[in-house]
Amino acid sequence: MTQSEFWGLRRRWFAWGINQVMKVYEPRIAERKLQLFGGLNGRILEIGPGTGVNFKYLNPNVDWIGLEYNQYMFPYLAREADRYGIKHELVQGSAQEMPLPDNSVDYVIGTLVLCSVPNPVQVLREIERVLKPGGRYVFVEHVAAESGTLTGMIQSVVKPLWCCCADGCHPDRKSWATIETAGFAEVAIDHFKLKFPVVSPHISGYALKG
Ligand SMILES: C[S@@+](CC[C@H](N)C(=O)[O-])C[C@H]1O[C@@H](n2cnc3c(N)ncnc32)[C@H](O)[C@@H]1O
Repeated sequence: MTQSEFWGLRRRWFAWGINQVMKVYEPRIAERKLQLFGGLNGRILEIGPGTGVNFKYLNPNVDWIGLEYNQYMFPYLAREADRYGIKHELVQGSAQEMPLPDNSVDYVIGTLVLCSVPNPVQVLREIERVLKPGGRYVFVEHVAAESGTLTGMIQSVVKPLWCCCADGCHPDRKSWATIETAGFAEVAIDHFKLKFPVVSPHISGYALKG
């Protein structure tokens, strides 16, 4: 097997795996996501949309673009978009270098993505660039546990294996701090926990471009 075949197989496996995991995760966050995403309209960019778990919360009239790095997610995304009747455009690429003009979208959605990208600071810079003035980045992320807690210790211990098995996902990023210091005009963040091992601490909220 060549190296590129190996990485292709790994990405295909991850697409299948995340689709299974989200069947358990999604019902636990559904109510919060509906509140966050249900009222959005206009042109929406979703970064790292995975298998399309967020379509069910969106207004069917939105104009949705998905920027996804793993092309094996595309069949899942197309199926889910069709199921919820959402006009969609799938773009393969990285959220670190978005192939979109400045000031071109009303909202950017990201769920469980800042944990996975190599450079979250660069992703936030790109989010701010592509948002129209007054546009919002709306997010849900799992984050680092408080230091000194059992969950924090477990996150440190499992991190190397976790990163490797979950396609680069870091269980212990302080993404709230990365968002707060990214230069948005206004930021609102709610910290909460979900009943899961390792990745229970979460944040959700929005960041507004001035
Ligand atoms: C943990 S999954 C979350 C998927 C989905 N947002 C959800 O909530 O189920 C992380 C997603 O980010 C994507 N991703 C990772 N790095 C990326 C990048 N640099 N640019 C765009 N997407 C990326 C992965 O392929 C994957 O679909």
